[in-house]
Amino acid sequence: MGLDVTLENGVQLHWATPIFTRKFDDTEELNARLAKIILEREQQDPGVPKSVVHGWHSKEDFFEWPHPEVAPVRDFVRHAMIELTSATTGRKEGEFGGEAEFIAWATILRKGGYNSVHTHPGCAWSGVYYVDTGGAAASGGGDGCIEFNDPRTAVEMVPLPGEPFGQRRRFEPESGRMYAFPAWLRHGVTPYMGDDARISVAFNIRMKEFQVFGVGDKPA
Ligand SMILES: [Fe+2]
Repeated sequence: MGLDVTLENGVQLHWATPIFTRKFDDTEELNARLAKIILEREQQDPGVPKSVVHGWHSKEDFFEWPHPEVAPVRDFVRHAMIELTSATTGRKEGEFGGEAEFIAWATILRKGGYNSVHTHPGCAWSGVYYVDTGGAAASGGGDGCIEFNDPRTAVEMVPLPGEPFGQRRRFEPESGRMYAFPAWLRHGVTPYMGDDARISVAFNIRMKEFQVFGVGDKPA
């Protein structure tokens, strides 16, 4: 499995951009505890000014917090990394390896809050896990959605039939769901207009010494 696809009529699709999404099972209790932990943390940590507007962004030390609830989120991030790396290498888990550094931070958006469009330089993958959508999720109204820009240069300049190029792609938040994607993919969060706090954990993955194992040289 790789990223390029050949259709039955002979048309080949190239330059695909992988976006991982999964709703993890049985996360209700975990998310309730995470929400409490993050809201308490907000009281102690003034946060850091990043892309969040009208909201709070913790220090980038979420995976060092002393709570056991951090570990399942780390597992979710690892899961996304494996799936995305399988897609870009065309290899299964165990057929590639390297040193991965996970960096995460909690984000709270309140009414009118959003994230301006940005990328995460120096990282391989980025993503977000939704703890609590604050009641405005699945509204269809675009409240607090993550939105991706078409990364291909100038593709919006001349419309093609069907207009598949140059469009933004918008995904709704859902508690227990994760989106993960290449860190270079420009993205932001549309204004959140719910009454309650919208809580998420965002992350970056840095890769060092990545390698794909050839036949016969897999690690023992
Ligand atoms: Fe981001």
